[in-house]
Amino acid sequence: MLSYISAVSLGFVLGFVRLVGAHPYTVHDTYIGGSFYNGFTAQAISDPTNGRVNYVDTPTAQGLNLTYASSDTFILRTDFTSFLDPNGPGRDSVRLISNNVYTTSVIVADIRHMPQGCATWPALWTVANPWPNLGEIDIIEGVNDQSPNQATLHTTPGCTQPANRAQTGKSVSNDCNTYVNNNVGCGVRSTLSNSYGPSFNSNGGGWYAMERTSSSITVWFWPRGSGPPSNVANGENFIDTSTWGEPMALFVNDSCDIASKFGPHNILINLTLCGTWAGQPSVYSSAGCPGSCVDHVNNNPSAFTNAYFEFASLRVYT
Ligand SMILES: *[C@@H]1O[C@H](CO)[C@@H](O)[C@H](O)[C@H]1NC(C)=O
Ligand SMILES: *[C@@H]1O[C@H](CO)[C@@H](O)[C@H](O)[C@H]1NC(C)=O
Ligand SMILES: *[C@@H]1O[C@H](CO)[C@@H](O)[C@H](O)[C@H]1NC(C)=O
Repeated sequence: MLSYISAVSLGFVLGFVRLVGAHPYTVHDTYIGGSFYNGFTAQAISDPTNGRVNYVDTPTAQGLNLTYASSDTFILRTDFTSFLDPNGPGRDSVRLISNNVYTTSVIVADIRHMPQGCATWPALWTVANPWPNLGEIDIIEGVNDQSPNQATLHTTPGCTQPANRAQTGKSVSNDCNTYVNNNVGCGVRSTLSNSYGPSFNSNGGGWYAMERTSSSITVWFWPRGSGPPSNVANGENFIDTSTWGEPMALFVNDSCDIASKFGPHNILINLTLCGTWAGQPSVYSSAGCPGSCVDHVNNNPSAFTNAYFEFASLRVYT
Protein backbone atom coordinates (compact mmCIF):
# COMPACT_ATOMS: atom_id res chain seq x y z
CA MET A 1 0.00 0.00 0.00
CA LEU A 2 2.75 2.36 0.98
CA SER A 3 4.59 1.59 -2.21
CA TYR A 4 1.36 2.10 -4.20
CA ILE A 5 0.91 5.55 -2.65
CA SER A 6 4.54 6.42 -3.26
CA ALA A 7 4.20 5.29 -6.84
CA VAL A 8 1.12 7.47 -7.28
CA SER A 9 2.74 10.52 -5.71
CA LEU A 10 5.93 9.90 -7.67
CA GLY A 11 3.78 9.80 -10.80
CA PHE A 12 2.27 13.12 -9.78
CA VAL A 13 5.68 14.64 -9.23
CA LEU A 14 7.01 13.34 -12.54
CA GLY A 15 3.88 14.52 -14.33
CA PHE A 16 4.27 17.95 -12.80
CA VAL A 17 7.93 18.13 -13.74
CA ARG A 18 7.06 17.12 -17.27
CA LEU A 19 4.41 19.84 -17.52
CA VAL A 20 6.78 22.48 -16.24
CA GLY A 21 9.56 21.31 -18.54
CA ALA A 22 7.33 20.91 -21.60
CA HIS A 23 6.87 23.60 -24.22
CA PRO A 24 3.51 22.90 -25.82
CA TYR A 25 2.00 25.43 -28.19
CA THR A 26 -1.20 25.68 -30.24
CA VAL A 27 -1.37 27.18 -33.69
CA HIS A 28 -2.61 30.79 -33.65
CA ASP A 29 -2.09 31.96 -37.25
CA THR A 30 -1.55 29.94 -40.41
CA TYR A 31 -0.36 31.66 -43.56
CA ILE A 32 -0.51 29.62 -46.75
CA GLY A 33 -0.92 30.98 -50.28
CA GLY A 34 -3.39 33.87 -50.43
CA SER A 35 -3.77 34.11 -46.65
CA PHE A 36 -0.40 35.88 -46.57
CA TYR A 37 -2.38 38.85 -47.92
CA ASN A 38 -4.66 38.74 -44.85
CA GLY A 39 -1.78 38.61 -42.39
CA PHE A 40 0.87 40.85 -43.97
CA THR A 41 1.02 44.33 -45.49
CA ALA A 42 3.62 45.55 -47.98
CA GLN A 43 5.30 48.73 -46.73
CA ALA A 44 6.02 51.36 -49.37
CA ILE A 45 8.74 53.06 -47.33
CA SER A 46 12.22 54.18 -48.22
CA ASP A 47 14.62 51.39 -47.29
CA PRO A 48 16.18 52.10 -43.88
CA THR A 49 19.35 50.32 -45.03
CA ASN A 50 19.77 52.57 -48.11
CA GLY A 51 19.30 49.74 -50.56
CA ARG A 52 18.90 50.16 -54.31
CA VAL A 53 15.21 49.23 -54.02
CA ASN A 54 11.86 50.90 -54.31
CA TYR A 55 9.52 49.23 -51.84
CA VAL A 56 5.97 49.13 -53.25
CA ASP A 57 2.62 48.76 -51.49
CA THR A 58 0.40 45.67 -51.57
CA PRO A 59 -1.77 46.56 -54.61
CA THR A 60 1.30 47.58 -56.62
CA ALA A 61 3.17 44.42 -55.62
CA GLN A 62 0.20 42.30 -56.73
CA GLY A 63 -0.26 44.31 -59.92
CA LEU A 64 3.40 43.88 -60.87
CA ASN A 65 3.33 40.20 -59.82
CA LEU A 66 6.06 40.90 -57.26
CA THR A 67 3.86 39.01 -54.82
CA TYR A 68 2.03 35.98 -56.11
CA ALA A 69 -0.17 33.46 -54.33
CA SER A 70 -1.62 30.12 -55.37
CA SER A 71 -3.39 27.60 -53.15
CA ASP A 72 -0.14 26.26 -51.73
CA THR A 73 2.53 28.85 -52.42
CA PHE A 74 3.38 32.46 -51.70
CA ILE A 75 6.09 34.25 -53.65
CA LEU A 76 7.70 37.60 -52.93
CA ARG A 77 10.28 38.98 -55.31
CA THR A 78 12.14 41.93 -56.72
CA ASP A 79 11.54 43.14 -60.28
CA PHE A 80 13.62 41.21 -62.83
CA THR A 81 12.69 42.87 -66.12
CA SER A 82 13.40 46.62 -65.87
CA PHE A 83 16.57 48.52 -66.71
CA LEU A 84 16.92 51.37 -64.20
CA ASP A 85 17.70 55.02 -64.72
CA PRO A 86 20.77 55.58 -62.51
CA ASN A 87 19.20 58.84 -61.32
CA GLY A 88 15.78 57.31 -60.70
CA PRO A 89 14.39 55.07 -57.98
CA GLY A 90 15.78 51.62 -57.20
CA ARG A 91 14.50 48.25 -58.34
CA ASP A 92 10.91 47.53 -57.23
CA SER A 93 10.86 45.15 -54.27
CA VAL A 94 8.70 44.09 -51.35
CA ARG A 95 8.93 44.45 -47.58
CA LEU A 96 6.13 42.69 -45.73
CA ILE A 97 5.14 43.36 -42.13
CA SER A 98 2.73 41.19 -40.17
CA ASN A 99 -0.49 42.81 -39.00
CA ASN A 100 -0.26 40.92 -35.70
CA VAL A 101 2.40 41.21 -33.02
CA TYR A 102 3.71 38.30 -30.97
CA THR A 103 5.66 37.86 -27.74
CA THR A 104 5.78 34.33 -26.27
CA SER A 105 5.37 32.32 -29.44
CA VAL A 106 6.91 30.01 -32.01
CA ILE A 107 7.21 30.92 -35.69
CA VAL A 108 7.66 28.04 -38.13
CA ALA A 109 8.42 28.90 -41.75
CA ASP A 110 8.48 26.24 -44.44
CA ILE A 111 10.49 27.88 -47.21
CA ARG A 112 11.09 26.40 -50.66
CA HIS A 113 13.34 29.11 -52.03
CA MET A 114 15.09 32.26 -50.84
CA PRO A 115 16.31 35.25 -52.86
CA GLN A 116 19.50 34.49 -54.73
CA GLY A 117 21.99 36.62 -56.64
CA CYS A 118 24.73 39.20 -56.21
CA ALA A 119 23.41 42.33 -54.41
CA THR A 120 20.56 40.47 -52.68
CA TRP A 121 20.07 40.98 -48.95
CA PRO A 122 17.01 39.01 -47.83
CA ALA A 123 15.76 38.71 -44.26
CA LEU A 124 13.10 37.04 -42.15
CA TRP A 125 13.09 38.76 -38.80
CA THR A 126 10.99 40.24 -35.99
CA VAL A 127 11.12 43.70 -34.47
CA ALA A 128 9.23 46.25 -32.37
CA ASN A 129 8.64 49.91 -33.06
CA PRO A 130 10.49 52.13 -32.21
CA TRP A 131 13.74 50.30 -32.91
CA PRO A 132 15.79 49.19 -30.99
CA ASN A 133 14.03 49.65 -27.63
CA LEU A 134 12.26 46.32 -27.63
CA GLY A 135 14.78 44.34 -29.62
CA GLU A 136 15.25 42.75 -33.02
CA ILE A 137 15.52 39.04 -33.79
CA ASP A 138 16.98 38.09 -37.17
CA ILE A 139 16.05 34.51 -38.06
CA ILE A 140 17.34 34.42 -41.63
CA GLU A 141 19.74 36.98 -42.98
CA GLY A 142 22.65 37.12 -45.37
CA VAL A 143 24.03 38.92 -48.41
CA ASN A 144 25.38 38.18 -51.90
CA ASP A 145 24.66 34.43 -51.72
CA GLN A 146 27.19 33.97 -48.92
CA SER A 147 26.28 30.89 -46.92
CA PRO A 148 25.73 29.98 -44.09
CA ASN A 149 22.78 31.67 -42.47
CA GLN A 150 23.26 33.80 -39.37
CA ALA A 151 20.69 34.35 -36.60
CA THR A 152 21.26 37.52 -34.60
CA LEU A 153 19.79 39.56 -31.73
CA HIS A 154 20.03 43.34 -31.53
CA THR A 155 19.14 45.05 -28.23
CA THR A 156 19.65 48.12 -26.09
CA PRO A 157 22.83 48.04 -23.93
CA GLY A 158 23.04 45.35 -21.25
CA CYS A 159 22.46 42.08 -23.06
CA THR A 160 25.35 39.70 -23.65
CA GLN A 161 25.54 35.98 -24.31
CA PRO A 162 27.90 33.37 -22.86
CA ALA A 163 30.37 32.08 -25.46
CA ASN A 164 29.38 28.45 -24.91
CA ARG A 165 25.73 27.48 -25.25
CA ALA A 166 23.81 24.32 -26.13
CA GLN A 167 23.62 25.03 -29.86
CA THR A 168 24.94 23.47 -33.06
CA GLY A 169 25.80 26.87 -34.57
CA LYS A 170 28.92 28.92 -33.96
CA SER A 171 28.71 32.18 -31.96
CA VAL A 172 30.43 34.94 -33.91
CA SER A 173 29.75 37.83 -31.50
CA ASN A 174 28.30 37.89 -28.01
CA ASP A 175 27.30 41.47 -27.22
CA CYS A 176 23.75 42.08 -28.46
CA ASN A 177 24.02 45.84 -27.86
CA THR A 178 23.14 47.71 -31.05
CA TYR A 179 25.38 50.64 -30.12
CA VAL A 180 28.70 48.76 -30.11
CA ASN A 181 30.71 46.90 -32.80
CA ASN A 182 28.89 48.73 -35.63
CA ASN A 183 25.60 47.06 -34.68
CA VAL A 184 26.73 43.52 -35.51
CA GLY A 185 24.64 42.32 -32.55
CA CYS A 186 25.11 38.84 -31.10
CA GLY A 187 25.12 36.40 -33.98
CA VAL A 188 25.26 32.66 -34.42
CA ARG A 189 26.23 31.09 -37.72
CA SER A 190 24.82 27.79 -38.87
CA THR A 191 27.34 25.04 -39.61
CA LEU A 192 25.22 23.90 -42.57
CA SER A 193 26.04 25.35 -45.98
CA ASN A 194 22.51 24.58 -47.19
CA SER A 195 21.11 26.96 -44.55
CA TYR A 196 21.33 29.93 -46.94
CA GLY A 197 21.42 31.02 -50.57
CA PRO A 198 21.98 28.87 -53.66
CA SER A 199 22.67 25.66 -51.73
CA PHE A 200 19.53 26.17 -49.61
CA ASN A 201 17.62 26.52 -52.89
CA SER A 202 19.17 23.59 -54.71
CA ASN A 203 18.29 21.44 -51.70
CA GLY A 204 14.64 22.52 -51.93
CA GLY A 205 14.88 24.85 -48.92
CA GLY A 206 13.80 23.76 -45.48
CA TRP A 207 12.20 24.82 -42.22
CA TYR A 208 13.20 27.65 -39.92
CA ALA A 209 11.65 27.97 -36.48
CA MET A 210 12.09 30.58 -33.75
CA GLU A 211 10.78 30.22 -30.21
CA ARG A 212 10.46 33.08 -27.74
CA THR A 213 9.90 32.45 -24.05
CA SER A 214 10.38 34.91 -21.19
CA SER A 215 13.90 33.58 -20.67
CA SER A 216 15.21 32.34 -24.04
CA ILE A 217 15.20 32.83 -27.80
CA THR A 218 15.89 29.75 -29.88
CA VAL A 219 16.32 29.19 -33.62
CA TRP A 220 16.19 25.80 -35.39
CA PHE A 221 16.90 24.97 -39.01
CA TRP A 222 16.11 21.68 -40.73
CA PRO A 223 17.17 21.34 -44.38
CA ARG A 224 14.64 19.71 -46.74
CA GLY A 225 15.00 15.95 -46.52
CA SER A 226 16.75 16.00 -43.16
CA GLY A 227 13.83 14.52 -41.23
CA PRO A 228 12.54 17.44 -39.13
CA PRO A 229 10.23 16.77 -36.17
CA SER A 230 6.98 15.37 -37.57
CA ASN A 231 4.85 18.14 -36.08
CA VAL A 232 6.99 20.61 -38.05
CA ALA A 233 7.07 18.60 -41.27
CA ASN A 234 3.30 18.05 -41.17
CA GLY A 235 2.38 21.58 -40.09
CA GLU A 236 0.45 20.21 -37.13
CA ASN A 237 -1.76 22.35 -34.89
CA PHE A 238 0.09 21.38 -31.72
CA ILE A 239 3.84 21.45 -31.30
CA ASP A 240 6.20 20.73 -28.43
CA THR A 241 9.57 22.40 -28.85
CA SER A 242 11.12 20.35 -26.05
CA THR A 243 11.25 17.40 -28.46
CA TRP A 244 12.99 19.30 -31.25
CA GLY A 245 16.59 18.60 -30.26
CA GLU A 246 19.59 20.90 -30.10
CA PRO A 247 18.89 24.18 -31.93
CA MET A 248 21.07 26.04 -34.38
CA ALA A 249 21.12 29.06 -32.03
CA LEU A 250 20.23 29.50 -28.38
CA PHE A 251 20.13 32.88 -26.66
CA VAL A 252 19.81 32.73 -22.88
CA ASN A 253 18.79 34.96 -20.02
CA ASP A 254 21.99 34.68 -17.91
CA SER A 255 23.18 38.24 -18.56
CA CYS A 256 20.30 39.48 -20.65
CA ASP A 257 16.82 40.07 -19.29
CA ILE A 258 15.05 38.63 -22.33
CA ALA A 259 11.59 39.61 -21.07
CA SER A 260 12.46 43.32 -20.87
CA LYS A 261 14.83 43.50 -23.86
CA PHE A 262 12.23 42.07 -26.27
CA GLY A 263 8.66 43.31 -26.58
CA PRO A 264 5.72 42.51 -28.84
CA HIS A 265 7.20 41.96 -32.31
CA ASN A 266 5.93 42.16 -35.86
CA ILE A 267 7.28 39.61 -38.32
CA LEU A 268 9.06 41.13 -41.33
CA ILE A 269 10.08 39.66 -44.62
CA ASN A 270 12.21 42.02 -46.66
CA LEU A 271 14.41 41.89 -49.69
CA THR A 272 16.71 44.78 -50.33
CA LEU A 273 19.52 45.12 -52.87
CA CYS A 274 22.96 46.58 -52.04
CA GLY A 275 22.52 48.93 -49.06
CA THR A 276 24.67 49.26 -45.97
CA TRP A 277 25.67 45.58 -45.82
CA ALA A 278 25.31 43.84 -49.20
CA GLY A 279 26.50 46.92 -51.05
CA GLN A 280 29.62 47.61 -48.99
CA PRO A 281 32.32 47.47 -51.73
CA SER A 282 34.58 45.05 -49.84
CA VAL A 283 31.68 42.75 -48.90
CA TYR A 284 30.22 42.85 -52.41
CA SER A 285 33.50 42.18 -54.24
CA SER A 286 34.76 39.54 -51.82
CA ALA A 287 31.63 37.55 -52.69
CA GLY A 288 32.93 37.45 -56.29
CA CYS A 289 30.24 39.84 -57.52
CA PRO A 290 30.80 41.89 -60.70
CA GLY A 291 31.48 45.63 -60.96
CA SER A 292 29.75 47.91 -58.50
CA CYS A 293 26.65 46.77 -56.67
CA VAL A 294 24.43 49.65 -57.76
CA ASP A 295 25.52 49.37 -61.43
CA HIS A 296 24.80 45.64 -61.31
CA VAL A 297 21.28 46.30 -60.00
CA ASN A 298 20.62 49.08 -62.51
CA ASN A 299 21.83 47.27 -65.63
CA ASN A 300 21.17 43.54 -65.17
CA PRO A 301 17.49 42.83 -64.57
CA SER A 302 17.82 39.17 -65.56
CA ALA A 303 20.36 38.67 -62.75
CA PHE A 304 17.36 38.96 -60.39
CA THR A 305 15.27 36.15 -61.88
CA ASN A 306 15.95 34.02 -58.81
CA ALA A 307 15.72 36.85 -56.29
CA TYR A 308 12.54 35.57 -54.68
CA PHE A 309 11.21 33.99 -51.50
CA GLU A 310 8.81 31.11 -51.93
CA PHE A 311 6.91 30.11 -48.80
CA ALA A 312 5.05 26.84 -48.49
CA SER A 313 3.66 28.08 -45.16
CA LEU A 314 4.31 30.26 -42.17
CA ARG A 315 2.65 29.37 -38.87
CA VAL A 316 2.69 31.15 -35.54
CA TYR A 317 1.99 29.16 -32.38
CA THR A 318 1.25 30.59 -28.95
C1 LIG B 1 3.45 35.65 -61.68
O1 LIG B 1 4.41 34.97 -60.91
C2 LIG B 1 4.19 33.59 -60.83
C3 LIG B 1 5.19 33.01 -59.84
O2 LIG B 1 6.50 33.40 -60.11
C4 LIG B 1 4.27 32.94 -62.18
O3 LIG B 1 4.03 31.56 -62.09
C5 LIG B 1 3.25 33.61 -63.08
O4 LIG B 1 3.39 33.10 -64.39
C6 LIG B 1 3.46 35.10 -63.09
N1 LIG B 1 2.38 35.72 -63.85
C7 LIG B 1 2.61 36.58 -64.82
C8 LIG B 1 1.39 37.17 -65.47
O5 LIG B 1 3.73 36.89 -65.15
C1 LIG C 1 14.98 45.35 -43.34
O1 LIG C 1 14.77 46.60 -42.74
C2 LIG C 1 15.35 46.80 -41.45
C3 LIG C 1 15.18 48.21 -41.01
O2 LIG C 1 13.86 48.55 -40.81
C4 LIG C 1 16.80 46.46 -41.35
O3 LIG C 1 17.23 46.45 -40.00
C5 LIG C 1 17.04 45.14 -41.97
O4 LIG C 1 18.41 44.92 -42.00
C6 LIG C 1 16.46 45.15 -43.36
N1 LIG C 1 16.79 43.97 -44.01
C7 LIG C 1 16.70 43.89 -45.28
C8 LIG C 1 17.10 42.61 -45.84
O5 LIG C 1 16.30 44.81 -45.97
C1 LIG D 1 16.41 36.97 -16.57
O1 LIG D 1 17.54 37.70 -16.15
C2 LIG D 1 17.25 38.89 -15.41
C3 LIG D 1 18.56 39.59 -15.09
O2 LIG D 1 19.35 39.69 -16.24
C4 LIG D 1 16.45 38.56 -14.17
O3 LIG D 1 16.10 39.76 -13.51
C5 LIG D 1 15.21 37.79 -14.55
O4 LIG D 1 14.52 37.38 -13.39
C6 LIG D 1 15.57 36.57 -15.38
N1 LIG D 1 14.34 35.96 -15.85
C7 LIG D 1 14.16 34.66 -15.86
C8 LIG D 1 12.83 34.21 -16.37
O5 LIG D 1 15.02 33.85 -15.55
